[in-house]
Amino acid sequence: MEVISIGLLGLGTVGSGVVNIIENHQDKLMHQVGCPVKIKKILVQDLTKIRHVQVESSLLTSDPDEILLDNDIDVVIEVMGGIEETKNYIIKALQEGKHVVTANKDLMALHGSELLTVASKSGCDLYYEASVAGGIPIIRTLVDGLASDRIVKMMGIVNGTTNFILTKMSQEGRPYEEVLKEAQELGYAESDPTADVEGLDAARKMTILATLGFSMKIDLEDVKVSGISQISDEDLLYGKQLGYTMKLIGLAHRDGEKVEVSVQPTLLSNRHPLASVQNEYNAIYVYGEAVGETMFYGPGAGSLPTATAIVSDLVAVMKNMRLGVNGKNAVTPQFEKRLKEEDEKFSKYFLRLHVKDEVGVFAEITSIFAKHGVSFEKILQLPIKKNEVAEIVLVTHQASSSEFQNILSILRDLSFVDEIKSSYRVEGSSVV
Ligand code: NAP
Ligand code: HSE
Repeated sequence: MEVISIGLLGLGTVGSGVVNIIENHQDKLMHQVGCPVKIKKILVQDLTKIRHVQVESSLLTSDPDEILLDNDIDVVIEVMGGIEETKNYIIKALQEGKHVVTANKDLMALHGSELLTVASKSGCDLYYEASVAGGIPIIRTLVDGLASDRIVKMMGIVNGTTNFILTKMSQEGRPYEEVLKEAQELGYAESDPTADVEGLDAARKMTILATLGFSMKIDLEDVKVSGISQISDEDLLYGKQLGYTMKLIGLAHRDGEKVEVSVQPTLLSNRHPLASVQNEYNAIYVYGEAVGETMFYGPGAGSLPTATAIVSDLVAVMKNMRLGVNGKNAVTPQFEKRLKEEDEKFSKYFLRLHVKDEVGVFAEITSIFAKHGVSFEKILQLPIKKNEVAEIVLVTHQASSSEFQNILSILRDLSFVDEIKSSYRVEGSSVV
């Protein structure tokens, strides 16, 4: 090969990072693949926009076919985002015999298996390392590094925006809206940040991780999702007092042949290694039957970290080209999907509720939990003076999700319960 020609779809936050790395790491790329790497065309929407990187204006196009139908282009790097239109571009590129590297978790979570099938039928590579946890090579870790093990549990902080928001809210007491705006300005958030704050972005990433980690085709709708927009300052404060840190946690857990996958705000014991992961950083804790505990940490969003993963995928494609083994990577899932029922999912729970400040109320509440076989790790009652209301905050021992939901619906119907303010999963035991 004399030169590898790249077509880039998108020149925003991540696309600019890709241009930057390909230009600045040309020596290293040349050493690894034995020929220069050149960006031949870049698809954008607005040809007149001022860019974060300098590129010759002749490289820019608003016509996708200038890339997808160009016989000289070997690899298409997709960093434009979006789903339906982008899916069509990727299929067209693969059918034209071009290898594809993408950072698009929305697309891979929804249509990954279809696209991987098209890639393998076309004898092309489709790599997507940057789609989960930005600069952390977690996909390669699951596919190659831990290929010999049986993964039991993965817990991930896989959304940089929400981790940034929760860190700033709890450590600096800053308001949610202000920190979200900063995360957008720093390029961490999606163009519509609802996907970040409501947990959908993390759910897409957990769909990809669970599918690979459990070798089972997990669909996005299998993931139970809740986001961070309802978390109050009081919840963060009580969590802290009890020795926990609030994080948006993606959980993928296998018991026997059955799995559960969720994304939800979780109070983590301060002793848990994920509790110290701050700001836009991501981390994935992986427990394998043979390897035991492992954890992978790094920047989960942003221009250069994400571009690092993309260009590393590009190197993998180019090495495959040299060896003539493109399109032979994808492994189909080994197991049929089997999801846990609600009474098979176990966790500890935090609950905060407002009750009438009257004799016997506290005892009544504890007896409801006792009747359902759920015991407490911690419980406190604090008067809220102005309304003759008391606040009860408790952390349970392990309980099934169905039992806990039963208890919540009983509590909601009681006349002396004013309001159930919040409830969260709890992971690990605090030291307090
Ligand atoms: P971005 O800053 O919004 O950039 C998107 C780029 O694609 C822009 O250059 C835009 O053109 C171009 N584009 C969008 N729709 C197009 C269309 N229909 N036709 C032609 N060009 C189009 O997005 P980003 O943050 O770089 O993210 C790109 C992808 O990477 C997304 O899938 C995202 O989920 C993923 N990702 C992002 C990060 C991150 O930290 N930002 C991390 C991991 C993965 P104009 O510039 O002309 O508008
Ligand atoms: N919006 C995403 C995040 C970008 O905040 O993690 C990286 O996928």
